[in-house]
Amino acid sequence: MAEVLVAKNIKKSFAVGEVVAEVLKGVDISLNEGEFVAIVGESGSGKSTLLYILAGIDSPTEGIVTLLGKDIAGADKAMLAQMRRRDFSFVYQFDNLVPNLTVYENITLPLMLDKRKPAEFADSVKEIVEYLGLSDRLKSYPRQLSGGEQQRVAIARALATSPKIIFLDEPTGSLDKERGRQVMELLKDINARRGVALVMVTHSPAHAKYASRIVRMEDGMIADIGEGSL
Ligand SMILES: Nc1ncnc2c1ncn2[C@@H]1O[C@H](COP(=O)(O)OP(=O)(O)O)[C@@H](O)[C@H]1O
Ligand SMILES: [Mg+2]
Repeated sequence: MAEVLVAKNIKKSFAVGEVVAEVLKGVDISLNEGEFVAIVGESGSGKSTLLYILAGIDSPTEGIVTLLGKDIAGADKAMLAQMRRRDFSFVYQFDNLVPNLTVYENITLPLMLDKRKPAEFADSVKEIVEYLGLSDRLKSYPRQLSGGEQQRVAIARALATSPKIIFLDEPTGSLDKERGRQVMELLKDINARRGVALVMVTHSPAHAKYASRIVRMEDGMIADIGEGSL
């Protein structure tokens, strides 16, 4: 199977005052096309830092990340920005929807920034919106939505560009149990039906089980790799 992401010997240090904290201590991780990987581990173990580096949002102190065949450590900003708009998406724990844009405008924002024409994407966005149960919310503003709905909008926006990979940092972290379960069912379905590879950081062992592979981080390293239920 083709690998869409390969990271080798990833190290990351932050200078905190006079001390240098080594937060990632040599992580190797890869992702196959259409795979669903969950990253778990205690708070502070380096999960978010790793996810940001894999998605090119942050750069490693050492190591190489190859995303869809491209070395992203050496990539220039413009190319990375274009990849972020076309090839992969990111969903944050606390959604960063734009408050003064409607739901529809938020979902299509990455497409508009990529200068795509509404006529080109209208059908596929409509399908995604229906699929996520957001059809009657398109004219609402983020503040008028529940937390679960806002997270569905963030996922719709991530899907709108038809990415090959979606990175998610605790996508259920701010949701109650039932809404969290619904989001997980949705992610499982997106992975199965659309073949989008997912890399998801989660605190929840139950949610990690939705993945095909579970990577457990401990103190900046991968402590073990297990199988999910997929
Ligand atoms: N920008 C930063 N500057 C300094 N320390 C950081 C920074 N980002 C993360 N850290 C530290 O790195 C460690 C791992 O953080 P993080 O990757 O957010 O962990 P997790 O997502 O597993 O909870 C923590 O000790 C955190 O304080
Ligand atoms: Mg985190």
